[in-house]
Amino acid sequence: MQKSQDELISELATVMERFLAQGSELEFAYKALEMQTEQLKKMQEEVNQSRVLSALGEMAATVAHEIRNPLGGIGGYASLLARSIPPEDPKRKYVDKIIGGISSLNKIVGNLLAYTRKTNLQKQNTDLVNWAEAILAHAEIEIEKEKKQLFIERNFPTEPLNAEIDAERLQQVMLNLLMNAIQAIETDGKISVGISSNEKFAEITVADTGNGIEPEHLKNIFTPFFTTKEQGTGLGLAIVKKIIDLHEGEITVESSVGKGTSFRIKIPFQSNSASPLTSGIGYSSH
Ligand SMILES: Nc1ncnc2c1ncn2[C@@H]1O[C@H](COP(=O)(O)OP(=O)(O)OP(=O)(O)O)[C@@H](O)[C@H]1O
Ligand SMILES: [Mg+2]
Repeated sequence: MQKSQDELISELATVMERFLAQGSELEFAYKALEMQTEQLKKMQEEVNQSRVLSALGEMAATVAHEIRNPLGGIGGYASLLARSIPPEDPKRKYVDKIIGGISSLNKIVGNLLAYTRKTNLQKQNTDLVNWAEAILAHAEIEIEKEKKQLFIERNFPTEPLNAEIDAERLQQVMLNLLMNAIQAIETDGKISVGISSNEKFAEITVADTGNGIEPEHLKNIFTPFFTTKEQGTGLGLAIVKKIIDLHEGEITVESSVGKGTSFRIKIPFQSNSASPLTSGIGYSSH
């Protein structure tokens, strides 16, 4: 028996509907596959990077060992020499240059070691307010040495705020951020340090009114050896990122050229070690 035209149209409509439904399912599956491929690529890059880093770590440890000892000797003799040459003697400035060079070599070796060293955190329950006050006292001594008008503003809670952190490694984070902030301010400005929390994480912010970061540099600042400074190793923020990753935290940055830069760190109260390889960096430029 022949089907009526209406029946044929309705069958066609059903087939089309199924076809379209399958099409959108396929599109959905394709998108999911694309996302997974993207994630896999990212993980592969991270694994490659961690291989490079562990090779770099071994090399750094050897180099540091080989360099540190003779460097210590040279530094000691240079200081002895400096003591025996009066400041007004023209030869003195050469010795001072040697001493300056040694201290920047020491910084490079120290930073390389800090970046590449395998680290297990020594976490302990710490009151972040107390902890930050001690670090800022240290930073204020550094500021006094600079010929700059710098003011540190504290936005701290009045009550203690406790979190499980590696106080020493996170101190390194703060000092690196504070040093960058001090260096970003040419003559006068303000550095605001904030501590706050919600039920999930503690938040630490370091903001400055310095020269800001060019938008095209923003994505590179956490990359090892990226620096725009003559005396920089470019390892400061790479070390910061590594220590925040170890705390399963997150660091984001907002910057505006000529106005300033603000770093925001979130440290979760509860560990969630599902994916130690991936952790977020956020960038924002105005
Ligand atoms: N607060 C800031 N204001 C402006 N630029 C910044 C700030 N923090 C970081 N940067 C930029 O990011 C770059 C990388 O910073 P990072 O701390 O890793 O290295 P560095 O400061 O150049 O060298 P080092 O830390 O060894 O002294 C800096 O050279 C600078 O261009
Ligand atoms: Mg730095």
